[in-house]
Amino acid sequence: MHVSCKKRLGLIVFAGLMLVALTHFWSHGTTSTVDIRSRQDRPTKKRLSGKNGAAANEYHDIPYHIKKDVASRLAHNSCVCLADEETVHLPFSDLLFPRVWAQNIDQDFLEFHPNPEGIIRHRAQEYSSFQERSYNPADVLIISEANSPLQYPTQGVEVRPLKTIIVPGLSLKEEPRPEHKVYLIATLGLGTFNVAAAVDEVSVKGEGEKEMILSSPSLRALNRQLQFVTYTNTVFHPKTADTIQFATEAHQAFFTVKVGHETVPKLYNSGYQEEYNITALVTIATKTFLRYDKLKDLIDSIRLYYPTVTIVIADDNEHPQPVKGPYIDHYIMPFGKGWFAGRNLAVSQVTTKYVLWVDDDFIFTANTKLERMVDILEKTTLDLVGGAVREVTGYTATYRHTISVEEGDGDGDCLHIRNGYHHIIEGFPNCVVVDAVINFFMGQTDKVRQAGFDPRLSRFAHLEFFIDGLGSLHVGSCSDVVVNHASKIQLPWTKTESQKSYEKFRYSPSKGYASLRNEVFYFKNRFKCMTSH
Ligand SMILES: *[C@@H]1O[C@H](CO)[C@@H](O)[C@H](O)[C@H]1NC(C)=O
Repeated sequence: MHVSCKKRLGLIVFAGLMLVALTHFWSHGTTSTVDIRSRQDRPTKKRLSGKNGAAANEYHDIPYHIKKDVASRLAHNSCVCLADEETVHLPFSDLLFPRVWAQNIDQDFLEFHPNPEGIIRHRAQEYSSFQERSYNPADVLIISEANSPLQYPTQGVEVRPLKTIIVPGLSLKEEPRPEHKVYLIATLGLGTFNVAAAVDEVSVKGEGEKEMILSSPSLRALNRQLQFVTYTNTVFHPKTADTIQFATEAHQAFFTVKVGHETVPKLYNSGYQEEYNITALVTIATKTFLRYDKLKDLIDSIRLYYPTVTIVIADDNEHPQPVKGPYIDHYIMPFGKGWFAGRNLAVSQVTTKYVLWVDDDFIFTANTKLERMVDILEKTTLDLVGGAVREVTGYTATYRHTISVEEGDGDGDCLHIRNGYHHIIEGFPNCVVVDAVINFFMGQTDKVRQAGFDPRLSRFAHLEFFIDGLGSLHVGSCSDVVVNHASKIQLPWTKTESQKSYEKFRYSPSKGYASLRNEVFYFKNRFKCMTSH
């Protein structure tokens, strides 16, 4: 009994020691430090670009003629914002021939800033750290040299963090010689090479390291061995890439291996239906301020056509009133939080695949066919689609805009906004692709959240959302889904007191707000100027 007790104690001590050893072993990987700073200035980039520059000089003696019409379309290093010249001087000529106007955001903003140098420096710092964060080695230009005997993948190689893959497509095609030899180097050091199988007659040096050398007197054996080469990501840093150098003594090639997680899908279970079930697919979101009478009309009109669709209301009134009814979520916000804050709050509470944005003074009619918007979003790659708004006067607006950002210099970029669209959508003759639409639109809920509504923009703001979403939102506009606008042009003496105070609050020009908008453009979006119709 005494002996077995001792034995058991020994076992426990032994197991304890093993545990300590194992913990130490396991934790080793996590305590090692990983440099996740910018990889922009690493040596590969220089090596890659150094080689490409040389080629241009080789042919400097050959004359050429610049084609102005093409060359002028290439991006310059510095953009400018120019307004259209006024050509005709007539009353209302601005209405008849809409001209492009230009604004120097940097001047307008910096003029009133107490410390212009300080803000310029701060923006430059923030911009450079933004660039570092969004830099990916997989985006670096790589050029394959002429006549390389090396075969390798040019794109599409991906490895999950800390996992291993076979590097596909590696091969060598060269004349017979006494020894065939290739090098594989992980130039950014994010992983190591190995071989999943050994081939006779091939010598492999550097297995499990960042640099591996394969050689053989037989080219066939070497090529067989190359089919078993593996790359293991050893540094945990998802959403980056390693640049692989594949070389012989005389030739070298580069390709990238992307390191990252699989994109995890976010799917909405809306119940399978033959026809679109708007209640299951769409939430209607709105923001109200001082217009409960209008809001009630909107809700009543929605209920005529969509009795069970959820309506989310963001309300920043000083004295909120209850908004009653089934399928209504009424969120009270602090007083005067504003336009974009309300949109953000409303959109954050949506649980359906799509969200429809409406203003609180819109009225649904038989032409407000949400099914059409769902249909185009389901059948195309669009993330968001706008409709048309019919004014009391009968005028119907779609408010279609294109937005482009032209690269500038250290002072910032140029923003250009124009009326118009890019192209008509195949199969949807009433719909076009644009960059910005009217404030009656349906979007993929996740995509709308991603672009986000900057909550600092509390009063007139609309295009700002589409500017933030440029590059992430694929936007359409359809003229055959129409909502009515209950107000806007109205005789002043028929206005109620609440209307008057609404307009005073929303439209009163405020110098502070104008300067805030300039700040958003100047600092957040790093624009120096803008032009627009
Ligand atoms: C549509 O979806 C709602 C909510 O998911 C559900 O209650 C309703 O029964 C569905 N309608 C039909 C016709 O299937």
